[in-house]
Amino acid sequence: MTDAPAVRLHDVEKTYEEEGLRVTALAGITADIPRGRFVMIVGPSGSGKSTLLNLIGCIDRPTRGTVEVAGQAIAALSDDRLTDFRARAVGFVFQNFNLFPVLSAYENVEYPLLLLGLTAKERRERTMAMLEQVGLAEQARQRPNQLSGGQKQRVAIARALVKGPSLVLADEPTANLDSANGAAIIALMREVQRQHATSFVFSTHDPQLMSHADETFTLKDGKLVGHHMAEAA
Ligand SMILES: Nc1ncnc2c1ncn2[C@@H]1O[C@H](COP(=O)(O)OP(=O)(O)OP(=O)(O)O)[C@@H](O)[C@H]1O
Ligand SMILES: [Mg+2]
Repeated sequence: MTDAPAVRLHDVEKTYEEEGLRVTALAGITADIPRGRFVMIVGPSGSGKSTLLNLIGCIDRPTRGTVEVAGQAIAALSDDRLTDFRARAVGFVFQNFNLFPVLSAYENVEYPLLLLGLTAKERRERTMAMLEQVGLAEQARQRPNQLSGGQKQRVAIARALVKGPSLVLADEPTANLDSANGAAIIALMREVQRQHATSFVFSTHDPQLMSHADETFTLKDGKLVGHHMAEAA
């Protein structure tokens, strides 16, 4: 299904039950997220951004409605096949970097390739190429606690991209960075997104970042309240 959108959401609802209380985090989202674009999801705290990215990233399943990723209906996959699909097709970047503290930058980036069973040579080549691309070849042996916040997020971006996923999801990747580092990370994500022709979806509460995105979806109270496409450059 080569012409399927990166993500297709149909009437997606997600409710959480806690101590008998129902919280509707997403209330019927229908949208197509195109392939090969730099797409932003914006909305205030609690609007459902993380919930939506978790559903798109196959970390969680919707209460109602359907999620398709690259033409694959998520509901049709068993938990095992879903885990395998996620390992191959989806890369993640998180607000808190989520690097393995005991592994070096190099080992953090190489890690997803170990799960895919590549040869040592292939792993080395791909890992070094990705570290170079994010400007951290020199820091390859350093551990996360020896890196700045911006450098940590660069490692996380390299780790997300190294397996060549068709989709990369980044949940508020700039929220723990100062504005200069945040801007640099957005620019780097944009650059690797173009180079790898990956579909990229990142969330933010900062509407000012909209100018960097090809398309922006706006969430409020679990509902999609806006869709904006940048004019073709
Ligand atoms: N595991 C959970 N259990 C119960 N309620 C949850 C859970 N996760 C999220 N929620 C609720 O769902 C709603 C949407 O939360 P979500 O984390 O998706 O918002 P967000 O837009 O990512 O917010 P933020 O900008 O603060 O990260 C909120 O009302 C939140 O309290
Ligand atoms: Mg969130």
